[in-house]
Amino acid sequence: MIEHRFAILFSKEGSNAENLAKEFHGKSFENVKTSIVCAITDNKDAKGIEKLSKFGIETTIIDPKEYASRNAFDQKVVSILQEHNVTLTLLAGFMRILTPIFTDNIKALNIHPSLLPLHKGANGMRESYENSMKIAGATVHIVSSELDSGEIVEQECIKKIENESFEEFKKRVHALEYLLYPNAVRKIVLNR
Ligand code: GRF
Repeated sequence: MIEHRFAILFSKEGSNAENLAKEFHGKSFENVKTSIVCAITDNKDAKGIEKLSKFGIETTIIDPKEYASRNAFDQKVVSILQEHNVTLTLLAGFMRILTPIFTDNIKALNIHPSLLPLHKGANGMRESYENSMKIAGATVHIVSSELDSGEIVEQECIKKIENESFEEFKKRVHALEYLLYPNAVRKIVLNR
């Protein structure tokens, strides 16, 4: 059995964090055992804290205001991940631009609500909804030093529906994310 020790980092709702916990906390598949050994947020009011606590996962809150620089904040995050012997870090709506202190030291995946490389950055969902394309989608990629730019692991599209509200569109993108992210994690863990 190979043991994988995941960390989840999130900032707000945490619906992907919850879904990842459901899929991987105390689970096994093929010859792999997985658990979420660490959760971190930069926002004490993040809804994901409560969602993860239902799985018995305690979230560490790291308040960016207590750190003099982006580097100092990232150093703290990296130390916690290393202390927990995390094998793979899963960013799930973690709303921070990461420095090389993080990206050079941590193997991580991220999920983004657009067909990357289109619509990078914090407004990916809104920009995907508003542009004139007939399709939108979601992407899971390896985290690299450039924002939303690492190698793509999983990507799928949905067709846009005429006159669909932003809320409905968002729900459909999220539903896609809940399938895509676990698939990407399994692919990485199983080297496929
Ligand atoms: C998701 O749409 C994800 O793609 C993006 O941030 C959003 C997080 O949503 N990076 P939630 O907090 O998982 O509900």
